[in-house]
Amino acid sequence: MPCSVVFRSAALLVAALSLIQAVKIEVHGKDNKTCIYAILSVNFTVIYEGNGTMENATFRLPDSLSTNGSTCGGNNSAPLLNMGFGTGHSLSLNFSRTDGKFSGDVLTFTYNTSDAKLFPGAKNQSVKHVAVNSLMESVPLNTIYTCRSVKAIASEPVVMVFWHVGIQAFVENGTISKNESFCKADVSTTVAPITTQTTSTVVPIPTKPSPDLPAVGNYTIKNGSDPCLLANMGLQLNITNTDNQTRVININSNSTASGHCGDKHSVLLLEDTDATIQFHFFVEQAKFFLKEVKVSIRLLVNGSTTTFNCSNGNLKYWQAFVGSSYMCRNEQQLVVTDQLAINTFNVWVQPFEIKNGTFSRAEECSLDDDSILIPIIVGAALAGLIVIVVIAYVIGRRRSYAGYQTL
Ligand SMILES: *[C@@H]1O[C@H](CO)[C@@H](O)[C@H](O)[C@H]1NC(C)=O
Ligand SMILES: *[C@@H]1O[C@H](CO)[C@@H](O)[C@H](O)[C@H]1NC(C)=O
Ligand SMILES: *[C@@H]1O[C@H](CO)[C@@H](O)[C@H](O)[C@H]1NC(C)=O
Ligand SMILES: *[C@@H]1O[C@H](CO)[C@@H](O)[C@H](O)[C@H]1NC(C)=O
Ligand SMILES: *[C@@H]1O[C@H](CO)[C@@H](O)[C@H](O)[C@H]1NC(C)=O
Ligand SMILES: *[C@@H]1O[C@H](CO)[C@@H](O)[C@H](O)[C@H]1NC(C)=O
Ligand SMILES: *[C@@H]1O[C@H](CO)[C@@H](O)[C@H](O)[C@H]1NC(C)=O
Ligand SMILES: *[C@@H]1O[C@H](CO)[C@@H](O)[C@H](O)[C@H]1NC(C)=O
Ligand SMILES: *[C@@H]1O[C@H](CO)[C@@H](O)[C@H](O)[C@H]1NC(C)=O
Ligand SMILES: *[C@@H]1O[C@H](CO)[C@@H](O)[C@H](O)[C@H]1NC(C)=O
Ligand SMILES: *[C@@H]1O[C@H](CO)[C@@H](O)[C@H](O)[C@H]1NC(C)=O
Ligand SMILES: *[C@@H]1O[C@H](CO)[C@@H](O)[C@H](O)[C@H]1NC(C)=O
Repeated sequence: MPCSVVFRSAALLVAALSLIQAVKIEVHGKDNKTCIYAILSVNFTVIYEGNGTMENATFRLPDSLSTNGSTCGGNNSAPLLNMGFGTGHSLSLNFSRTDGKFSGDVLTFTYNTSDAKLFPGAKNQSVKHVAVNSLMESVPLNTIYTCRSVKAIASEPVVMVFWHVGIQAFVENGTISKNESFCKADVSTTVAPITTQTTSTVVPIPTKPSPDLPAVGNYTIKNGSDPCLLANMGLQLNITNTDNQTRVININSNSTASGHCGDKHSVLLLEDTDATIQFHFFVEQAKFFLKEVKVSIRLLVNGSTTTFNCSNGNLKYWQAFVGSSYMCRNEQQLVVTDQLAINTFNVWVQPFEIKNGTFSRAEECSLDDDSILIPIIVGAALAGLIVIVVIAYVIGRRRSYAGYQTL
């Protein structure tokens, strides 16, 4: 099977410490149905006064949480997610809804410096609060807000770093939505547009946004100190899940590049926090080409993390003569499997025989090639000529026929 999706429950994830440490919480109503669902990872840094010096307490939101104090809300009260942990610490978020959308309202972090485990040597032992209201944007009801990107929220003397977040409040019928509303940071990994949201316009955020074009990353693999593989390109994955939902994900242009070069086989490996992509180039009959692609990416599906793995070792893309480079300025779609396609932008690659650390003469893809227009124009002209000749012939025949009639 070329593609596989591995579903993991959040609990298993927590066990797999080196992977994503996400905490999953559900708040149930009187009818025992889920009304608030959240999965998230948080790192806290709190600066506090110790024995004569300022100290930093750094800790993570633990996976054993109490939802005591949480409420589903009612006609006159807002839903509240309260995550209590340790001795007197808690992180809470209440929610509001308007015009078919919901959003997180006030995020309150409460900490108790008398906890000597987290705040050793604290001078003032007391309960403190910080409140902010910038955790999540408003998203349509019956969708789950998701944000894989890292988001830091600072409010003196606390810094909270959130990542791998999925939140749904006002859950209907106790069923967590299958539709995600991606946070802005996930949608555009390239440019973070300045949000010009006005409260009067009610434009629902699409649940399947088409992201901006990916930024072009310039990747170099070196053999010793000499570049031996160069690749400049913008990459976008188009994944069709088993549930037939498509996701379009831009690859971070800052992904770290590694790999190796050989005479007949070179490898480029791009790694980012959630995605790794391998490109295998081979040489055959003086030409190189992209033969194999392997992709592994972590996705959030219905609040649980899934790892999507996909590969195809029987491709033939990006062909050019060894000693030259391959270029395609136009967008290309590399179909890897029926579940994965890679959209590429401004590709310029040379996996073999780099001279002087720069690209050699480029062989351009046919998409870029204007000369393809010439045969089209010539063909069109010929076709036009034939039509004219046929019309002239028909008219000529008619004329001569009509001529006979009058005589
Ligand atoms: C609520 O659901 C859980 C399992 O989902 C069950 O163990 C529990 O007994 C239920 N409680 C009520 C009051 O129905
Ligand atoms: C959270 O903290 C751990 C160490 O406590 C660190 O390894 C990890 O990189 C941090 N995550 C983020 C997103 O800052
Ligand atoms: C605080 O610091 C002083 C001197 O640096 C030391 O004598 C004292 O034992 C410290 N107290 C605590 C509670 O660590
Ligand atoms: C505490 O953290 C801040 C910000 O991360 C850092 O600038 C500072 O040096 C740290 N202080 C201590 C005592 O570790
Ligand atoms: C929940 O909180 C209330 C007060 O806010 C407290 O009396 C009660 O013991 C708590 N329950 C649990 C299970 O922690
Ligand atoms: C909320 O309002 C609806 C009608 O507006 C009413 O039927 C329902 O009982 C109310 N619920 C509560 C908890 O007050
Ligand atoms: C959320 O809680 C804060 C205080 O903790 C309050 O000011 C705010 O009005 C609440 N939001 C809603 C929608 O009730
Ligand atoms: C919840 O249940 C009602 C009635 O069964 C249905 O009309 C509605 O579409 C359901 N909502 C969701 C989000 O499944
Ligand atoms: C990439 O790295 C540059 C420089 O380190 C930084 O300015 C930019 O924000 C990064 N872009 C992304 C998408 O992380
Ligand atoms: C990447 O390479 C392109 C040429 O392919 C160049 O125009 C661009 O400036 C380079 N970008 C960086 C960040 O070096
Ligand atoms: C992603 O793939 C689907 C199915 O192949 C296609 O309909 C859609 O247009 C593609 N989207 C992009 C942005 O390539
Ligand atoms: C490559 O480097 C060699 C020696 O440094 C130099 O003679 C040659 O002109 C360079 N070629 C190009 C295309 O820069």
